[in-house]
Amino acid sequence: MKEKVIPIRHSGRASAPAPRYDGGKLADTLGRPLRDLRISVTDRCTFRCTYCMPRAVFDADYQFLPHAAILSFEEIARLAGVFVGLGVKKIRLTGGEPLLRKGVPRLVAMLAPLGTDLTLTTNGSTLVKHARELKAAGLKRITVSLDSLDEATFRAMNDADFPVAKVLEGIRAAGDAGLAPVKINMVVQRGVNDHQMLDAAAHWRGTGHVLRFIEFMDVGSTNGWRMDDVIPSAEIVRRIGERFPLEPVDASYAGEVAERWRYQDGGGEIGVISSVTQAFCPGCNRLRLSTDGSLYTCLFAQQGHDLKSLLRGGASDDQLRDAIAAVWRAREDRYSEIRTAKTARERKVEMSYIGG
Ligand code: GTP
Ligand code: 5AD
Ligand code: SF4
Ligand code: SF4
Repeated sequence: MKEKVIPIRHSGRASAPAPRYDGGKLADTLGRPLRDLRISVTDRCTFRCTYCMPRAVFDADYQFLPHAAILSFEEIARLAGVFVGLGVKKIRLTGGEPLLRKGVPRLVAMLAPLGTDLTLTTNGSTLVKHARELKAAGLKRITVSLDSLDEATFRAMNDADFPVAKVLEGIRAAGDAGLAPVKINMVVQRGVNDHQMLDAAAHWRGTGHVLRFIEFMDVGSTNGWRMDDVIPSAEIVRRIGERFPLEPVDASYAGEVAERWRYQDGGGEIGVISSVTQAFCPGCNRLRLSTDGSLYTCLFAQQGHDLKSLLRGGASDDQLRDAIAAVWRAREDRYSEIRTAKTARERKVEMSYIGG
């Protein structure tokens, strides 16, 4: 029997039926393939990083997603299989804080047989407890956010009075569990933690772990982003290089967001992620699945495509695949390339909801 082709809903409105995916090369309107899937498993977090979930907005009254709205692990795993059929080679679990959701190692074990690169981005707060289990379940590697090694700066940035030492213990546990090298993300904000960049570089040099400096971005619409607060990655590389001479390293895969640099003395490497000053949209091959099952084709999107209704409405794998392929084929996003003061002020989806 021929299956009916079902359209995907775009923020509540019915759209044209999705054409059949013929198994050929899947590319968006700018010729970009789909390679990288980021799955947010919770919109909650115990931290209130000022650049991500400012406490004034994400307060006691904030309405996080109710349990019924959240995709189950079985739903996520089924969708992941469909994405892999469309060319996805890397899956990253994100949040909010993904390890806040109960049973994430079970999800990892469900995704591992798909054979993709499988990784997770965490704030490290509970990593001591979870590292071994995650590795045993099939996680390949891990990224931990740590914005400063200075106690007062870190506590002010996470706004949850969370100590540096616990995150460092988590990173150590990840390394011991075989999740090394760990990538360490440091979001840099002028006047907030930029004075900590050299300390961080000195600390992580020679450990085998890779420190990545991220330019503060205008994601969402609650973090009060201003261009003046961004330290351009060229300045980051210059400031680190003055103390520890650096040389560039080729990207390790097409579409890598971090630009790689290595210490000339063999102390390892760092990365800089320059979403603001050197946009990487031309190679962007990422799709994001939100906690409640919407697809977002850009980190700065204003709306998603409701996949959950299809999934829960009884769609077959082929129908899901056709709908996802249609979304990707129609994709035009290049927000960072065309960012203006006006777009920076527009209402966009929050990062804690779609994952970084
Ligand atoms: P690997 O190279 O696989 O380790 O992953 P990654 O560099 O994608 O790691 P991660 O998820 O930690 O990404 C680092 C940060 O880069 C994110 O947290 C975001 O801040 C930023 N970022 C990631 N993807 C994008 C993207 O598609 N667009 C923009 N503008 N920023 C991104
Ligand atoms: N700008 C840059 N990076 C951000 N992250 C969260 N919000 C922002 C922002 N506004 C980072 C986190 C984490 C990753 C998922 O994204 O610190 O490392
Ligand atoms: Fe939580 Fe990560 Fe956002 Fe900080 S950046 S509030 S740790 S989700
Ligand atoms: Fe991709 Fe959008 Fe980021 Fe550009 S701004 S790199 S299109 S996610």
